[in-house]
Amino acid sequence: MRSVCFPRCKLSRLMGWLQLVLGVLVIIVSFANLFRFYSTGFFLHDEDLCRHFYSSKNAYLGFDAKALSDRVQEVLSKMASLQDKLESTVQQMEKSKDTLDKTHISKLEYKKYLEDEVIQPLYSAHISLRQIRLPKVEGIRNSTMREEPLINSFIVEEIRKYITPKENRRGKINIFGSERVYNTIGHACVSMKKELEEYMNYDIGSFCKDDWNLAQKLMINGCDPLPRRRCLTRASKLYQKPYPINESLWRLPDGRNVRWSNYQCRNFNCLSSKNPKRGYSKCTGCFEMEKEKVKWVTTNGSLPVDFLINDVLAVKPGEIRIGLDFGIGTGTFAARMREQNVTVISTALNLGAPFCEMIALRGLIPLYVTLNQRLPFFDNTMDLIHTTGFLDGWIDLQLMDFMLFDWDRVLRPGGLLWIDRFFCNRKDLDDYMYMFLQFRYKKHKWAISPKSKEEVYLSVLLEKPPRSL
Ligand SMILES: *[C@@H]1O[C@H](CO)[C@@H](O)[C@H](O)[C@H]1NC(C)=O
Ligand SMILES: *[C@@H]1O[C@H](CO)[C@@H](O)[C@H](O)[C@H]1NC(C)=O
Ligand SMILES: *[C@@H]1O[C@H](CO)[C@@H](O)[C@H](O)[C@H]1NC(C)=O
Ligand SMILES: *[C@@H]1O[C@H](CO)[C@@H](O)[C@H](O)[C@H]1NC(C)=O
Repeated sequence: MRSVCFPRCKLSRLMGWLQLVLGVLVIIVSFANLFRFYSTGFFLHDEDLCRHFYSSKNAYLGFDAKALSDRVQEVLSKMASLQDKLESTVQQMEKSKDTLDKTHISKLEYKKYLEDEVIQPLYSAHISLRQIRLPKVEGIRNSTMREEPLINSFIVEEIRKYITPKENRRGKINIFGSERVYNTIGHACVSMKKELEEYMNYDIGSFCKDDWNLAQKLMINGCDPLPRRRCLTRASKLYQKPYPINESLWRLPDGRNVRWSNYQCRNFNCLSSKNPKRGYSKCTGCFEMEKEKVKWVTTNGSLPVDFLINDVLAVKPGEIRIGLDFGIGTGTFAARMREQNVTVISTALNLGAPFCEMIALRGLIPLYVTLNQRLPFFDNTMDLIHTTGFLDGWIDLQLMDFMLFDWDRVLRPGGLLWIDRFFCNRKDLDDYMYMFLQFRYKKHKWAISPKSKEEVYLSVLLEKPPRSL
């Protein structure tokens, strides 16, 4: 017995000692780290912090803040008057533009020069002067955290400025009852640091790069919300006024109203499914008005899973007034609903084609959101949520669960959830069906049709029950 135990007992005693030694080591290392933080001023109190940063406790004594503030005020008022003068000159020139003939072309150039080279920089200087923050002796009020923890993840000054909490002016409490406003960014921005820094690298007040696709890439990958920027978005050079609403709903928009440089196509006709190089794959029959016109209104060539708008609205006559169309498309569902006097907002992303532009040019509302975000609607507000072409068998069950709960949140009691042509592998159907059924909604319509040998379509029309708790 003993001879069997002996080596094992010895080993376990040895392990015990080893653990003890390791534990002591960990404690020593922790203390060393703590000390290092302490010495960089991380844990210092207000006074110490000042001394640390300004190296002398009397930094403020010899510093006449009032004089500086007066100087800045003086510069600001001088700049304001100069700006007024320049602006009025430009306006004068604009008025007499008609009388300028070709010999005066240099005058027009002069106007452009003044606008681009003088007035714009003046504005920037003006704004930066106004934003000078004189050092605050009292530090950040009531705050236990000295700086936004994310700030040191970034180098580009504009990102650092953006995520720094903005204190209200003169210690006031704002309408939200808080002392400062936080500009938020999605946490995945940190993992896409390189792209985010490229996106935020611009001259304040000048034109932005033509980089909406970089912005969209950031958003789709979870850097959402994306920081706002202080540069001017470019528009199409040839922008025409949109068609009137009695024509715009069912007509391809004017191609000149879109900046095509980041798409494969250069006009709307090119986006037709006849063109194999149209640049997008989802959304068959989009951008083709003959195909768009038959959706949800005719049964010609449709499957049992294709419910008609009239049949759905008949479930709740007169009750459906506002709704959300969560999917991929060009706003055709919203256009049809508009004809029924129902206001529908369509979510859209520009995945290879100008979906947002198209929806807006049709006179409908595109909501530019990704799957990452909680819907910007309040609880129990929507009469209808319709979804098609977006959620299908690729989606992670847990992600879908979070989304469905969010839809449930915004849908009002008695509101309708219309899942339209959801498709997945036949063997996964039970998983997804359970997800739709878990909310115990009232079932109005339920249809399944085969899509291919392995895949099936599922369409359901459900009603959210009252939840008076
Ligand atoms: C800030 O601190 C003051 C006094 O220390 C307190 O009365 C006030 O409620 C605090 N404000 C917030 C927003 O915590
Ligand atoms: C649309 O309305 C305008 C007036 O608002 C009218 O002049 C135009 O003819 C209408 N277009 C069509 C196609 O009905
Ligand atoms: C139904 O669709 C076919 C082709 O898809 C077309 O030839 C036919 O005219 C359509 N019928 C009606 C009633 O729209
Ligand atoms: C929509 O509203 C207009 C104006 O109130 C009305 O003339 C029209 O009949 C309504 N359409 C439907 C389908 O209810």
